Amino acid sequence: MTKVDVLLGLQWGDEGKGKIVDVLTPGYDVIARFQGGPNAGHTLEFNGIKHVLHIIPSGIFHTDKINVIGNGVIIEPRIFLQEVQALAEKGVDATKNLYVSKKAHLILPTHRLLDAANEQAKGNAKIGSTLKGIGPTYTDKIARCGLRVGDTLEFDFRERYEMLKAQHLRTAQTLMFDVNSFRIDGMTLEQYEEQWLASLETLKRFQLINSEYFINRCLREGKRILAEGAQAAMLDIDFGSYPFVTSSNTVTAGVCSGLGIAPSSVGRVMGIAKAYCTRVGAGPFPPELFDETGSRLCQLGHEFGATTGRPRRCGWIDIPALRYACMLDGVTDLIITKPDVMNDFEQVRMCTAYKIGDTLTDEIPFEYNAVEIKPQYVDFAGWQQDLSGTADYAALPEKLRTYLAAIERETGINIMAVSISPDRKDVIFK
Ligand code: GDP
Ligand code: IMO
Ligand code: MG
Repeated sequence: MTKVDVLLGLQWGDEGKGKIVDVLTPGYDVIARFQGGPNAGHTLEFNGIKHVLHIIPSGIFHTDKINVIGNGVIIEPRIFLQEVQALAEKGVDATKNLYVSKKAHLILPTHRLLDAANEQAKGNAKIGSTLKGIGPTYTDKIARCGLRVGDTLEFDFRERYEMLKAQHLRTAQTLMFDVNSFRIDGMTLEQYEEQWLASLETLKRFQLINSEYFINRCLREGKRILAEGAQAAMLDIDFGSYPFVTSSNTVTAGVCSGLGIAPSSVGRVMGIAKAYCTRVGAGPFPPELFDETGSRLCQLGHEFGATTGRPRRCGWIDIPALRYACMLDGVTDLIITKPDVMNDFEQVRMCTAYKIGDTLTDEIPFEYNAVEIKPQYVDFAGWQQDLSGTADYAALPEKLRTYLAAIERETGINIMAVSISPDRKDVIFK
């Protein structure tokens, strides 16, 4: 019996999960997404090609591996179709090695409409959702009225679809939302719906399976499985900075419910963090930088959302948040990305504690959104050296290794690898 290894984000998303999953894929037989949906944007780069995946697991470019979209994921069929087509243009036929759970829920066009309606109704308290319909779809799942991938095979699917759509439109009305002027990707709801319904036919051509049986059978057969997280611990529905979170369990616990495995089947937990920190959308972010250093991180790190194109908020690494994530996730190995972005920095800072009023703490307070938090910093000399071409850990600049050693000390977890460019080839294993 093998176990499922896990790779997930420890900050506010966009840590480089897609890239690292792609790099680790040769060591696995199956790559499985367990939560989230097209709010994710996972970037892979190799041979001069850049590719962004939203719903499809990041192992898809390795054609001899099986990729699974688990029951915990939510699927938007038209976005899924676009991903399948973009892969086909790059010579990858996803129908061959991608299996989809029949229990994964569907994002309807009107879920996307409700996402916009909810955000509009929030006024100044907007979450900054990616507007892909994530919140409303998970809401319907929990309310037991959602539609699942397997339902598309049933004779009464269209009838159930129409009922749910009508319910959504009534809700939009109560939110005073102007349905007629609403556009998705430049289309009216009706135009989009037509394409959405047509996209279901593509989805149905995939192997639709009871993925929990598939995954557990693979474990019994000694196959190696990697679970790929989306979003990150600080966006978790239970433990993130609620309500500025996504609507799924992004932490390791989500792997069990999102793939149908027992907790005892979880193996290594690889947590990934940037050498600094970013956040897209609203919500607390104590070490955020509003100065020139923040803009430099944004520009040098190309910190623009892979899904929405929005600029990401940038700041120094947040150790209280990182420790919290490591605790919740049971991280066994750390992976640090993007230190190369700070190559020219004279000084690099690390937020090691929060000061709230007169009290110093390294815990994430319940009142995370409401209290004023003064980040407490420890400073490090910048390494001021180009990292390109570095092949082993020992060859990294000493000042960078000092910084990395401090991350290990503060979290109590060993770094297993450091990524120094967007490209697949630039990962240094320790
Ligand atoms: P994900 O959502 O966690 O998969 O991350 P994203 O793809 O949204 O964002 C990570 C961004 O950083 C992408 O543009 C990657 O190509 C890029 N990236 C990943 N690792 C590195 C790295 O080590 N250095 C640099 N400079 N860029 C990286
Ligand atoms: P990956 O997998 C970064 C953020 C949104 C918003 C909040 C809720 O690429 O790391 P939602 O659309 O889920 O209702 O948005 O969560 N968010 C992400 N931020 N990376 C992501 O995914 C994200 N997915 C959602 O910006 O603040
Ligand atoms: Mg991303």
